[in-house]
Amino acid sequence: MHILITAGPTREFIDDVRYLSNASSGQMGYALAIAAAAAGHQVVLISGPTLLSPPAGCEFHGIETTAEMLAACESVWPDCDGVIAAAAVCDYRPAQRIAGKIAKTGNGLTLDLVETPDILATLGATRGTRWNVGFALEAQDAYARAIKKLQRKHCDAIVLNHPSAIGASENTVELLLPSGESAAHWSGRKSEIAILLIAWIEANLAK
Ligand code: C5P
Repeated sequence: MHILITAGPTREFIDDVRYLSNASSGQMGYALAIAAAAAGHQVVLISGPTLLSPPAGCEFHGIETTAEMLAACESVWPDCDGVIAAAAVCDYRPAQRIAGKIAKTGNGLTLDLVETPDILATLGATRGTRWNVGFALEAQDAYARAIKKLQRKHCDAIVLNHPSAIGASENTVELLLPSGESAAHWSGRKSEIAILLIAWIEANLAK
C-alpha cells in the first residue's frame, strides 16, 4: 500500500521568532513510518519539527505550520491508499503573524486566535475508497470524545490514548471502530504498537 503518515507537532507563528506549539516528540508517527516501510509499504511521512531523523526508505516532507502540513498532505493524497494521522496539530493559530519581533511594553499581551484547518477531516471528506486512521489524545470523557472525532473526521478507526503518551517512548492505547466497539487494547513501546497497528490495517482496511 501507499500510506500517508502525519507526525510531530505543528508550529503557529506569533511573530518571526515566537510560535505556539505542543510537546509532541513525533515518536509514534515515526515508529509507524518505520513499521510500515519494514512491512513493504510505500510511505510518505509528513512531519512537523522533531529531534528524530527521517526514517530510511520513506518519502519525507518536513513542514512547520498546519497550513504547510495540509498543503503537503493534499499534494500526495491522490496517490495514497490511506492515511494515519499521528500528528499533534495545533488547533489554533494567531489571527495574524506580526512581521519582526513584538516588543515588550510593560503591559500584558492578548493573542487573538483562530482555528486551524482540520487536516484529517479535510482528507476524510475526499477519501472515496481510501481509509483513514486517526489518533485521539483525551484527558477526560475519553471514549465519547474519541468516537465523536472518529465520526467527524470520517475515520475507519481511531487510536485513543492519554496525555501521558506525549513525549514518552511507551504508550497504552485502545483502537475504536465506527460501531463504537473496541477492536484492540495495546500497551508497550511505541515501536511495538506501531507494528500491531500496521498489521491491523493490513488485515482490516487494505483492499
Ligand atoms: O486534535 P484532535 O484531538 O482533534 O486530533 C485528532 C486527530 O485529528 C489526530 O489524528 C490528528 O492528527 C488529527 N488532526 C488533524 N488536523 C487538525 C487537528 C487534528 O489532522 N487540525
